[in-house]
Amino acid sequence: MSHVSVDLKGKVAIITGASRGIGRAVAARLASHGANLVLASRGKEALDETVHHLKDKYGIDAIGVPTDVAKLTDLQNLVNKAKAHFKQIDILVNVAGVSSQHPFHLQPIEDFEMLANTNYLGYVRLIRLVIPDMVARKNGHLINVVSGSTLVDPIPRGFLAYSSLKMGLRAFLKGLFWEMREHNIKVTSLLPGVVASDLTDHLKDVAQEQRERLMDPNAVADMVSFALSVPANACPLELAVINQLTTWTKPVIDYQQTQAK
Ligand SMILES: NC(=O)c1ccc[n+]([C@@H]2O[C@H](COP(=O)([O-])OP(=O)(O)OC[C@H]3O[C@@H](n4cnc5c(N)ncnc54)[C@H](OP(=O)(O)O)[C@@H]3O)[C@@H](O)[C@H]2O)c1
Repeated sequence: MSHVSVDLKGKVAIITGASRGIGRAVAARLASHGANLVLASRGKEALDETVHHLKDKYGIDAIGVPTDVAKLTDLQNLVNKAKAHFKQIDILVNVAGVSSQHPFHLQPIEDFEMLANTNYLGYVRLIRLVIPDMVARKNGHLINVVSGSTLVDPIPRGFLAYSSLKMGLRAFLKGLFWEMREHNIKVTSLLPGVVASDLTDHLKDVAQEQRERLMDPNAVADMVSFALSVPANACPLELAVINQLTTWTKPVIDYQQTQAK
């Protein structure tokens, strides 16, 4: 349930990583605002379940397109299917991402490349595929779940690949904001703190009292609703919502408890 009122009836949004966690919460939120949806993730079963659930609950039109965002051909297929079904794309919400924790000297190079292809190129390539139509129409909004970890300097131990790629993404999106505003296209980066999801469940041995500090995925859906609620002549460039129940200098999840095997 959103605190802000947004009317997206007749609008079409692509959401990646929509089968669970933050992406699913964002998909439900946009459906509640009346948007029609194109949902993407690798696993078909959870994606289909999400599509059926949102269509039933909100009476919107939605399709699921199984997609590995690390693969350019899958992203091309996603955009082609979206345009074939809905004709145009008004909003893109890039969410699909993975976590990985390694001391860099022990990290398999393939793992770094997978992270770069998914968390960085997955966002950049999909944006590149949808913007020509948006530029031609002089309308569109690109919303990107980056990470609050980009605000932490130095990067927390074990998160060198994850956070440095998110920092690069944040820098890219900030530059894109200025290019795209000339075409009346909005670019927003979301910098959430630590959110309760499968991604953080994979962090090893997170103690119960630390789990209680994690934000709900709906906190990120709130950021999306806000980004879409501002007047046409304004755009939130970056929104950061960070965990409150921890001191700023102390990681939400202690390093000792999250070292990779
Ligand atoms: N959780 C946090 O604390 C937190 C904080 C800040 C930012 N973020 C960012 O938020 C995003 C989502 O995180 P989350 O916590 O919601 O994770 P999650 O619960 O693990 O969900 C990830 C979603 O992305 C999909 N996905 C993963 N790899 C994919 C790929 N290669 N191609 C297509 N879909 C893929 C997953 O479905 P399939 O596995 O079926 O593909 C799933 O739907 C990530 O970009 C993450 O970096 C998370």
